[in-house]
Amino acid sequence: MKRRYSRLRGTGGYLPPRRVTNQDLVAELAQRGVETSHDWIVERTGIHARHFAAPEVATSDLAVTAAKAALQAASMRAADIDLIIVATSTPDMVFPSTAAIVQHKLGIAGCPAFDVQAVCTGFIYAIAVADSMIASGAANRALVIGAEIFSRLLDFNDRGTCVLFGDGAGAVVLEASDEPGILATDLHANGEYVDILCVPGHVAGGQISGRPLLEMEGRAVFKLAVGVLGETAQAVLAKAEVDASDLDWLVPHQANIRIMQATARKLHLPMEKVVVTVHEHGNTSAASVPLALDCAVRAGDVKPGQLVLLEGVGGGFTWGSALLRM
Ligand code: UT7
Repeated sequence: MKRRYSRLRGTGGYLPPRRVTNQDLVAELAQRGVETSHDWIVERTGIHARHFAAPEVATSDLAVTAAKAALQAASMRAADIDLIIVATSTPDMVFPSTAAIVQHKLGIAGCPAFDVQAVCTGFIYAIAVADSMIASGAANRALVIGAEIFSRLLDFNDRGTCVLFGDGAGAVVLEASDEPGILATDLHANGEYVDILCVPGHVAGGQISGRPLLEMEGRAVFKLAVGVLGETAQAVLAKAEVDASDLDWLVPHQANIRIMQATARKLHLPMEKVVVTVHEHGNTSAASVPLALDCAVRAGDVKPGQLVLLEGVGGGFTWGSALLRM
């Protein structure tokens, strides 16, 4: 029997309009007595600016705007979609899922809609799940979204984390096809590392219990990230029997330019083949990979027929990759 593949039919992205430069953030933090500088942020991370959502905006709003752009690029209507997966760690509410809210805001009903929570690896997890459902025949046209308002989790007294993250959403439409498509995916988690990147709070008895702000041991995360990104890249390439030298593009999680450079070095890829948006987006967690992919597609860099490796890493610890023919 012929294999059913998932083909990428369209991409979309959305950044909330408020662009916060390093200079803006340095000035804002100085008022709190928190010392940082544009030079430190650029040198250690590559970030120049990020976008922050307005208080009245919900993660589902960002997701819907990105989803509509992806649908338009795919020349499809929302009614054509029969599966919605939203990767997010900043859902609109505890429940129901942001995906169910997105479905309603898109004016459709009935198809399965659920969230995936794998922090910054969320979009890779979501695309792997959608690919499996399409391959099995459970879905034909999937909307896969990464959307985050990470600014609401940031402790603006912690200079080691608050300068790193931003808000945004990215989306893709996948459709069943005889032609590849997603060639292979590779997912991992290791809960041993829960504490090095977490938001250690929850709701109990109508109160917030614990500390609902992002905490990170930056150096430990950095070291682990470089190691596992190299491993998952090799694993997914081996599954598809493809050599790294055949890759047209690497679209890595946009956390830190130095992590991306280290990953590219391990794969012997020149930085010209790496899609980089961290300078303008910061780390948008589950939104970072689909946002970067959308930027590269719309810029005309990533083209039909090209071989693209998507990679994510984040809290959990989670990591994974997806290899696709555009
Ligand atoms: O999305 C999930 C994945 N997340 C990541 O991949 C993040 C991984 N980690 C990183 O990207 C880096 O570890 C950071 C960018 C978070 C930090 O860079 P680093 O080179 O590892 O710096 P560090 O944490 O070792 O800190 C070096 C120094 C420290 O000062 P001392 O102890 O050497 O005097 C920090 O206090 O830099 C200081 N520092 C800052 N200085 C100015 C930390 N944050 C800042 C800041 N501005 N914003």
